[in-house]
Amino acid sequence: MADAILVIDEGTTSTRAIVFDRDFNQVSLAQEEVPLAYPADGWVEQDGETIWEKTVEVCRKALAEVGGVERIAGIGITNQRETTLVWDRKTGKPLAPAIIWQDRRTASACDALKAAGHEDAVQAETGLLIDPYFSGTKIAWILDTVTVTGARERAEAGELAFGTIETFLIWHLTGGRVHATDVSNASRTLLYRLGLGEQGGWSEAMCNLFRVPMNMLPDVRPNAADFGLSDEALFGKALPILSAAGDQQSALVGQGCLSPGMAKITYGTGAFLVANSGTEKPESKNRLLGTVGYETAVAGAMALEGSIFNAGTVVKWLRDDLGLISDAAESEAMAEALPGNGGVYIVPAFTGLGAPHWNADARGTISGITRATTAAHLVRAGLEAVAYQTRDLLDAFEADGVEIRELRVDGGMVANDWLMQFLSDICDRPVVRPDYREMTALGAAALAAMQLGWLDAAAWQAREAKGVRFEPEMDEEQRAALLKGWSAALRRTLA
Ligand code: G3P
Repeated sequence: MADAILVIDEGTTSTRAIVFDRDFNQVSLAQEEVPLAYPADGWVEQDGETIWEKTVEVCRKALAEVGGVERIAGIGITNQRETTLVWDRKTGKPLAPAIIWQDRRTASACDALKAAGHEDAVQAETGLLIDPYFSGTKIAWILDTVTVTGARERAEAGELAFGTIETFLIWHLTGGRVHATDVSNASRTLLYRLGLGEQGGWSEAMCNLFRVPMNMLPDVRPNAADFGLSDEALFGKALPILSAAGDQQSALVGQGCLSPGMAKITYGTGAFLVANSGTEKPESKNRLLGTVGYETAVAGAMALEGSIFNAGTVVKWLRDDLGLISDAAESEAMAEALPGNGGVYIVPAFTGLGAPHWNADARGTISGITRATTAAHLVRAGLEAVAYQTRDLLDAFEADGVEIRELRVDGGMVANDWLMQFLSDICDRPVVRPDYREMTALGAAALAAMQLGWLDAAAWQAREAKGVRFEPEMDEEQRAALLKGWSAALRRTLA
């Protein structure tokens, strides 16, 4: 009997396959790293074909662990958003490496569009700001700069397809039969008129502004929808693709934030604070993003988002590049053993700063070091930076009139108890950590289950998730002193 869902969670650093049973228990998981390349300052790339091959590999492993494909009722997909691929419709081969969401190569193109006064119109239409983060300027870069001759002409002739990662996976899973995206991923391209249902859609004005031929764009569907059937040859049985959602929106669903005002933050490669803002189109005056939260055939919500570009990357950098820790878990003991931060701050603007600064040219700083500074201070400063950046986002949400009373957290970094307590102290709010942490994958499973008719949004929201609650314990004076130090470090970074 088909009583399980296969979720593909294609993230920035790894691709995973997780099988959930009908009660949303994880019954198998397989994971493979996908290498990132940094070919120039601010450039971040991945090989599209490797993403596809590793994804198939992890799916097969996860299926083998549950005894094969027979138990699987269908597939849910969730993915790193904004990452851009352009491929040949005949061969499925990408013309260039995937340009990762963190990539800043189009900063000057964005500056020119801002200088020409387009930002207000872009924000009004798409909910987004003009920044290299989003797909729009990345597509034009591939069409105009790639060493393949005549890419733009070929695109205009209908020979090329654009997609973010879910679209690329759906294309390959269905053997090139389906070229489709979902509303949450579409709303991160700068090409989508923000809105639920009929109000949303590809925007001709934006496609003209960002010089993207509309015939390259995929068909847009709700998050729970029919995305076609996978090729039988791949897994031994054709499986319906039942859901697709950007990883942050998927985690919003996974965390059960289906009512207005509920919010979650996921600490993955970056960190993304997303708050359900109801059915009205959100309008930020504090440089947050308006985006689609989720949409099914019968329910949906918009969302307001604050995006931090570097969170897990800080720990990875401390471990792999500086060699200060041998594994992520060690950072917890090192930070905890210190009586304080010793006045050391790291602003991890490795790839510029996201919300609320949106400064693509900023690069990271380490400040306040003295002869007494040790490796532990740097490790602690790296962790603390994640909490300070979260606090900056919460302040921007508050200035936009969105009061977030508690933070639902997930993602790899939340295993660190010291960091969770520090986060609660700095944000002056309870932090709620679920025992089951794979909220991104769980959201995609829930959306797929909705498409199967196994559950509805109300039943999902009512579901109890066990977890741990961290309450703020720091006194106001100490919090204010730490935040003052952070503000000074930020000023130096942005100077
Ligand atoms: O917008 C980028 C985001 O989707 C990437 O998520 O989990 O790889 O940090 P993650």
